Amino acid sequence: MPAPINDAASEAAAAKPRVEGPIKPGVDYHSFANVTDFRVRHVDLDLAVDFAARRLRGHADLTVARQKPDARRLILDTRDLDIRAVTLLAKGDAPKKLVFKPSAARGFLGRPLQIEMPAAGTSDAVVRIEYETQPQASGLQWLTPAQTAGKKHPYLFSQSQAIHARSWIPLQDSPQVRVTYSATIRAPDGLRALMSAAHGAVDKKPDADGLTAYRFDMKEAIPSYLIALAVGDIAFHSISARTGVYAEPAVLAAAAKEFVDLERMVATCEKLFGPYRWGRYDLLILPPSAPYGGMENPRLSFITPTIIAGDRSLVAVIAHELAHSWSGNLVTNATWRDFWLNEGFTVYLERRIVEALYGARRAQMEDVLGLQSVKREMADLGAADQHLAIDLRGRDPDDGTTDVAYEKGKLFLQFLASRFGRDTFEAFLRSYFDHFAFQSIDTEQFLDYLDANLLAKKPGAVSDQEIHVWVYEPGLPGSAVLPSADVFAPVDRVRALWLAGSMPIDVVQAQAKEWSTQEWLHFLDNTPAEVQRPRLDELEQKFALSDSGNAEIAHSWFRIAIRNGYSPAYPPLTRYLTTIGRRKLVRPLYEDLMKAPGGGELARTIYAKARAGYHPIVQTSIDAIVTPQR
Ligand code: BES
Ligand code: ZN
Repeated sequence: MPAPINDAASEAAAAKPRVEGPIKPGVDYHSFANVTDFRVRHVDLDLAVDFAARRLRGHADLTVARQKPDARRLILDTRDLDIRAVTLLAKGDAPKKLVFKPSAARGFLGRPLQIEMPAAGTSDAVVRIEYETQPQASGLQWLTPAQTAGKKHPYLFSQSQAIHARSWIPLQDSPQVRVTYSATIRAPDGLRALMSAAHGAVDKKPDADGLTAYRFDMKEAIPSYLIALAVGDIAFHSISARTGVYAEPAVLAAAAKEFVDLERMVATCEKLFGPYRWGRYDLLILPPSAPYGGMENPRLSFITPTIIAGDRSLVAVIAHELAHSWSGNLVTNATWRDFWLNEGFTVYLERRIVEALYGARRAQMEDVLGLQSVKREMADLGAADQHLAIDLRGRDPDDGTTDVAYEKGKLFLQFLASRFGRDTFEAFLRSYFDHFAFQSIDTEQFLDYLDANLLAKKPGAVSDQEIHVWVYEPGLPGSAVLPSADVFAPVDRVRALWLAGSMPIDVVQAQAKEWSTQEWLHFLDNTPAEVQRPRLDELEQKFALSDSGNAEIAHSWFRIAIRNGYSPAYPPLTRYLTTIGRRKLVRPLYEDLMKAPGGGELARTIYAKARAGYHPIVQTSIDAIVTPQR
């Protein structure tokens, strides 16, 4: 029998995340895993889905490689997991019970799980952890039939990024640990299970409990935040030999129509950035409570239905999630400090796909909207949070990740492209993806590679100081090449004339006939704080913005309506906030309501109805806004 775990020593060992002193690049302050002692190489799951209890139940077999001969204690990340037993499975030997001890919970970081490992052997050990998840698991959303499009069947989906994989799988939940994984998911008969992995055999018949087993296999090593699961009444529509769309039957046709360009997007990205290395690329259109626009789960991006506008005008989100197949999934941020390596690169790639498929004008509009958005966001951020390499110690990475990583990150790459020429820069990007394929790297590893493989090619083109300012200083550097807002000049003109009373609404309407979604967003997002009631009436009467089928346009309109206390928009606003759960769309509306006179009460009334339908991640965000802080 291994010796019992000594409490004081084990608490100290598990107390890794520190928040004082200089930050160490490459150290993951959001994981308890002792990755220099042990590394998990493979995760094999066997989980039954219990909708009635809102629990996953079963085991995870972790293949563990010892990194130091004297390492004895394996520390895993968990959050709200009920651990039943931990066993060592050795080939040829009887399974051996291992001593384990969950430490005290530490808020959003969860609870380190310490396991006493046997003395060093040469081969990898397989550790079986029997466990179940809790109904409030932060990385899972359990939906009632009423919350789905079909209204007949329950639905479950996961969202592991940033640090929620630990709420449904005990593992080393750090992006610098890459694992292959396999899984058996036992789903209630009639429902389909999907994962971010290749599909294996599906049992022909349900077992005695009425569960049908689905098998999955991910042969490429990925970080834990890309492990994903969905279970529901899900149908499939093929788009090309390697692409397709999954969705509830009721939304499948609309989704298939909206995303017809999927294969062209993959082909375009391959041409620009090298081969697509994941086999298939499918989309899963989630129910409307999905917390994010998209999540780049490998082989199967999870997508909000709020981008189905009917005119393909919001498909940049698809380009974005696809692009993560290179920036993020192939080359991964080693810690959440390096998040900009994932998102800044991905926005750059996304805009290149949009440009190739929909033209330079559309990409330029997206660039301008992105710039406006990061400028607005930066105005409210402390200086340190405007750095690309951001210190997130002590904070939930879900809250610390802003447009800085996305749009400032993209502008940094555009700056490099402008100095070296786009072709040279993009050849560099291809070599970067090849060089670091299936690895997790930190900011400094990228900068070293940049130095040796781009900067050194043309000495003097960019100074070390310029690079330093981009990565380690606040604001947008003077060297930034900002997109010209020319594309929106006609929209600005119409807005100004109309607000001044010099352009009747019918003329506005005639002009707006040609406007894209992006032009509408620019029009709405740049109205002054106060808009006169007759102008609001005109807008609503002519364009029925409250009922827009375009969730982004409706969002921008509701912000104006709330700011101006425009009560005719409140019933549709209530409907909007109680049917969709995408954080980017709902959070600003609650914030605006809390600032508006009398809005606090409305916010609380709406939230009381809406909360149960929101994802746990979004509930946490909105709780903090709507619940009065003492
Ligand atoms: N990987 C992100 C989503 C994410 C980030 C989840 C951080 C959890 C923590 C995804 O690729 C993303 O950026 N989605 C955006 C859409 C994109 C077009 C900017 C979103 O959800 O709005
Ligand atoms: Zn992204």
